[in-house]
Amino acid sequence: MAKVPFVTLEKLKEIDKTYPTPYHLYDEKGIRENARRLYDAFSWNKGFKEYFAVKATPTPKILQILKEEGCGVDCSSYTELLMSEKLGFSGDDIMFSSNDTPREDFELARKLDAQINLDDFTHIDYLNEICGIPETICLRFNPGGVFKLSTDIMDNPGDAKYGLTKDQIIEAYKKLKSLGAKRFGIHSFLASNTVTNDYYPKLARILFELVVEIKEKCDVEINFVNLSGGIGVAYKPDQEQNDIYEISKGVKKAYEEILTPNGIDVAIYTESGRYMLAPYGHLVTKAIHEKHIYKEYIGVDACAANLMRPAIYGAYHHITVMGKENLPCDHKYDVTGSLCENNDKFAVDRMLPKIDKGDFLVIHDTGAHGFSMGYNYNGKLRSAELLLKENGDVEMIRRAETPKDYFATFDFTHLFDDVE
Ligand SMILES: Cc1ncc(COP(=O)(O)O)c(C=O)c1O
Repeated sequence: MAKVPFVTLEKLKEIDKTYPTPYHLYDEKGIRENARRLYDAFSWNKGFKEYFAVKATPTPKILQILKEEGCGVDCSSYTELLMSEKLGFSGDDIMFSSNDTPREDFELARKLDAQINLDDFTHIDYLNEICGIPETICLRFNPGGVFKLSTDIMDNPGDAKYGLTKDQIIEAYKKLKSLGAKRFGIHSFLASNTVTNDYYPKLARILFELVVEIKEKCDVEINFVNLSGGIGVAYKPDQEQNDIYEISKGVKKAYEEILTPNGIDVAIYTESGRYMLAPYGHLVTKAIHEKHIYKEYIGVDACAANLMRPAIYGAYHHITVMGKENLPCDHKYDVTGSLCENNDKFAVDRMLPKIDKGDFLVIHDTGAHGFSMGYNYNGKLRSAELLLKENGDVEMIRRAETPKDYFATFDFTHLFDDVE
């Protein structure tokens, strides 16, 4: 099944008059509708809340849109906390899920009265010494071993640096209670980008059983269960997209089988990034070169500094050559950026229609962990971010970096005063 861009070639040509490629483009309508679907799917759970993973798309306008749709934020660092504060998030609107956490980060999280999710047993004393244990506190659980869905190994928690072991979790709740905590959460993130409806239900089952055990062993009532991120998106056209209603149904079944008979009520939290934003972002780039050596190359004006996932994980991102959707995919290309790195390729051996210089290419599913993973290698500058608004207008929500931005942190800026 073909992936259809949310923007037309005509619109891209119109945008081109004001904003040069490359840029990241976001679809406001898609973002809002998807957020509403998530809330609708989980409406059976009183207290359900999505805390959008800021690291996925740390762009104020995007966070504002999600805030309007009822989402909070999941922050992982001082800067993300600061941005969220400026955008009006505070207290229970913020989950602070960090690891290897610096002192200043905890201080700010505490000042904002954020819900702090501790990644380690030793962080209890660390936090207590810095700023005391807040009334609301959450712990990140790592069950170890491998995480399987039926026979498929999804990930390897035993090898992951995150979270507390089962024994530590039990001791940690007792300790937190004795230190004055009154409202408790539990969190776990066991597999990333799961393209299956079974991940959250299986994770929920593990966490709900633990909630019952914690009640029995620690006399602690868990108030919220944070299923974190991990819901995937169908990056490949032949993959089946997750069905959030099916996912929610599976979580509800686990809830009714495990929690309800034990008289326990919890709020379900999620901390999605990819699921909330990836499909609603395109990286728009133009073909600027073609090269014929041992292979056929198309050089585009974006590079891995704009979208790192293909280069670092070999991740697949679908490409639409705009205006050529109905032509046969009878050319095999490597689509490359300009970094002096041979892995700077958006596609390898990809069958596409014949590409000509000047063609617009839409790289799909770049709305999460796309722009945000950008970097400045080779002196490359971060692109602009644009929003395709619900009324069809386009708004620049982050300008492109300039050489002046790149030079701004040097200790001899006077040499660059005349640079724009
Ligand atoms: C703690 C935490 N929560 C949520 C997320 C979001 O994950 P995803 O974008 O896969 O939903 C991440 C991603 O790295 C994370 O580290």
